[in-house]
Amino acid sequence: MLASLTITILIMIMATSVALASSDAAVLEGQARALLVWKDSIDNQSQQALRSWGNTPAPCNWRGITCGTGVHRHRPVINDISLRGMRLRGALESLNFSALRNLTRLDLSHNLLAGSIPPSIEVLGELHALLLQGNQIRGSIPLGLGNLTKLHSLMLHENDLSGEIPSQIGNMSRNLTKLTTLSLRNNQLSGLIPKKLDCLSNLQYLSLSENILSGSIPNSIRNLTKLTTLSLHNNQLSGLIPQELDFLTNLEYLDLSENIFSGSIPNCIGNLTKLTIFYLYSNQLSGHIPRELGRLVNLEDLELSDNTLTGSIPNSIGNLIKLTALYLDSNQHSGHIPRELGYLGNLEELNLSNSTLRASTIELSQRAVTNKLVYFCLVGGKRRG
Ligand SMILES: *[C@@H]1O[C@H](CO)[C@@H](O)[C@H](O)[C@H]1NC(C)=O
Ligand SMILES: *[C@@H]1O[C@H](CO)[C@@H](O)[C@H](O)[C@H]1NC(C)=O
Ligand SMILES: *[C@@H]1O[C@H](CO)[C@@H](O)[C@H](O)[C@H]1NC(C)=O
Ligand SMILES: *[C@@H]1O[C@H](CO)[C@@H](O)[C@H](O)[C@H]1NC(C)=O
Ligand SMILES: *[C@@H]1O[C@H](CO)[C@@H](O)[C@H](O)[C@H]1NC(C)=O
Ligand SMILES: *[C@@H]1O[C@H](CO)[C@@H](O)[C@H](O)[C@H]1NC(C)=O
Ligand SMILES: *[C@@H]1O[C@H](CO)[C@@H](O)[C@H](O)[C@H]1NC(C)=O
Ligand SMILES: *[C@@H]1O[C@H](CO)[C@@H](O)[C@H](O)[C@H]1NC(C)=O
Ligand SMILES: *[C@@H]1O[C@H](CO)[C@@H](O)[C@H](O)[C@H]1NC(C)=O
Ligand SMILES: *[C@@H]1O[C@H](CO)[C@@H](O)[C@H](O)[C@H]1NC(C)=O
Repeated sequence: MLASLTITILIMIMATSVALASSDAAVLEGQARALLVWKDSIDNQSQQALRSWGNTPAPCNWRGITCGTGVHRHRPVINDISLRGMRLRGALESLNFSALRNLTRLDLSHNLLAGSIPPSIEVLGELHALLLQGNQIRGSIPLGLGNLTKLHSLMLHENDLSGEIPSQIGNMSRNLTKLTTLSLRNNQLSGLIPKKLDCLSNLQYLSLSENILSGSIPNSIRNLTKLTTLSLHNNQLSGLIPQELDFLTNLEYLDLSENIFSGSIPNCIGNLTKLTIFYLYSNQLSGHIPRELGRLVNLEDLELSDNTLTGSIPNSIGNLIKLTALYLDSNQHSGHIPRELGYLGNLEELNLSNSTLRASTIELSQRAVTNKLVYFCLVGGKRRG
């Protein structure tokens, strides 16, 4: 009795695992089919690059395809597609994402893909990395990306994406708490930076550069305390540089250049002591350079050119002994060039031209500064002397 019960249970267990295994086999077949349908849709030359696709029934050894066995006893399924830089010319619309729900990584970066990002991409709920940068993808960013709650990296830069960064990204971001890298740079995105960023609390890299974003930097930026890179370069952003940047004490790279920011450079910038690169050039900033800038002792490149900064250059700039490049040209500075500039023994590029500074090169030649300086300009001229 007991023995037959045991046998019955055993048979049941075996039947279940066979059913599971064969359903996984069906999944893998469906995945292979989805890939071959996509291969058929791309141009002939691109198909050549994927000629291993279809050679074997199981796709696990096809070029760029990696399978994984997720759950115990399951047969392998595709979890990684890596087809970076293969000059593939096609579109994403013909890829059946429903068949690829197990993907954790999709890398189609640096190809010649056109078309848009289909909304159906939202079914890829296991994705950790979505890398579509360096293509010719158009259209808007689908709202459904907010469903991809396991994303660590979202790289869509260097495409032709347009429209707004979905205003729901605040809401989405409640779900995108794992995101560490968000790169949307070099597209045609317009409108505002979403107001609510505060839930992207693990973000380390944020680049929205080279778009046509307008409005001001939202205060919720203060919550992105793990950021090491913040680049908003070359947009149409305006308003003040927010005091809230003060909270981003891990920043190493801060680029707000080529926008229309106004007001003065906040003193609290002096708290960002890990900064190595700091660009504010080509804005409409006024007021003095804050003395606190002298606390940024890790700075290697400081560029404040082409603003309407006034007053004298603070002596504290002499603390920035790691500087290799210092650009203060095209401002309205007055007074003498501080002799402390002479302490900057690593300087290779210095531009102080087109301002009303009273020049006295003698002050600079006193110190080591002349050893490495390859470009020095007080009255205009071209890079590298
Ligand atoms: C691509 O291949 C198809 C069929 O194999 C052929 O009809 C077509 O002319 C080819 N196109 C180019 C641009 O070579
Ligand atoms: C693949 O995805 C399907 C559908 O979401 C799921 O049932 C299955 O367990 C996954 N397989 C693996 C190995 O992760
Ligand atoms: C996409 O894949 C799913 C799952 O394999 C399948 O049910 C569906 O029929 C496919 N859709 C198309 C258009 O092939
Ligand atoms: C994506 O999220 C929206 C709500 O934000 C929900 O309506 C939709 O069903 C989700 N889609 C999937 C595939 O989970
Ligand atoms: C978040 O979603 C809710 C409901 O969908 C909406 O009322 C609210 O305006 C959204 N907030 C933002 C910042 O998009
Ligand atoms: C968060 O994601 C879940 C699915 O993972 C979805 O049902 C929900 O609508 C999302 N919430 C928001 C605010 O987008
Ligand atoms: C964002 O920061 C504010 C102030 O520090 C805090 O009250 C809020 O809870 C933070 N939001 C999140 C989602 O952590
Ligand atoms: C940041 O800088 C301001 C002004 O220099 C100072 O008052 C404040 O205490 C600093 N905050 C931190 C956290 O260091
Ligand atoms: C000099 O600076 C002013 C602003 O301070 C600017 O308008 C002008 O274009 C600059 N000239 C050159 C040659 O860069
Ligand atoms: C130095 O500054 C002047 C005035 O802004 C500018 O015209 C020149 O191109 C700058 N030189 C370099 C090498 O950037």
